Amino acid sequence: MAFKLKLHEVNKLFGSGSLKKSVVDKVTITFEEGRTYALKGASGSGKSTLMHIIAGLDTPTTGTVFLQNKDFSLYSSQDRARLVVLVTQVPFLIKELTVLENITLAGLVIGMSKVEAQERALFYLAAVGLFDTQAWNVGALSGGQRQRICIARALVVKPKFLCADEPTGALDEKTGSAIIQLLLDHQKNEGMGLIISSHNPSVVEQMELVFALKDGILVPHKTVLTKLGIL
Ligand SMILES: Nc1ncnc2c1ncn2[C@@H]1O[C@H](COP(=O)(O)OP(=O)(O)OP(=O)(O)O)[C@@H](O)[C@H]1O
Ligand SMILES: [Mg+2]
Repeated sequence: MAFKLKLHEVNKLFGSGSLKKSVVDKVTITFEEGRTYALKGASGSGKSTLMHIIAGLDTPTTGTVFLQNKDFSLYSSQDRARLVVLVTQVPFLIKELTVLENITLAGLVIGMSKVEAQERALFYLAAVGLFDTQAWNVGALSGGQRQRICIARALVVKPKFLCADEPTGALDEKTGSAIIQLLLDHQKNEGMGLIISSHNPSVVEQMELVFALKDGILVPHKTVLTKLGIL
């Protein structure tokens, strides 16, 4: 049975008192393994906030995220890391480790053997075009290179759902489209769910189901209802 990741009436408020601000407003949506989703919206519309909640990196103020009908926050941290992976908008790497060690670590954390984790790390390092950086200190990488390393690290894990927050934000057009193609190929081969947030129309239009965040509300593009067989 296909995995389902479901957000049920998810709200997120920031601040307190008169400064209280609702960033995500009663969002209910089900993401399915094997499908691709785009999340678009103006800067500050709440895309990153929602992506963090989807991947379990942040908790909703109210509402629940379910994976297979079980509250996702009740899964073990190892299972959460194995099942749903987020590539954050701002790349985060461990500066004390080399590029290869950073990527390999993601496999080790979810219980892969060192040999398998390293083999996969080298494979995806090559796939993002950065095989030659394997021994580098991460401080020597450019912003775009860091972003590609984070994508390689996410693919090592073989998650059921891969969420990528503006994955081409720091990349030139050619490298950006190669990365999107890599994500789509991987999505097809592994049958995972792919959720991408992006400002870039050419990225958005390559995803099957498109949603926009407006004033905290998630609005499906008109084609979504047809594609889901609702209209
Ligand atoms: N920790 C926080 N505390 C207070 N406000 C926050 C916090 N995180 C985000 N916000 C606010 O929530 C709103 C949505 O931010 P978010 O980063 O989710 O937007 P975004 O759509 O990802 O924007 P961008 O396209 O620029 O990346 C913004 O107004 C931001 O200031
Ligand atoms: Mg953002």
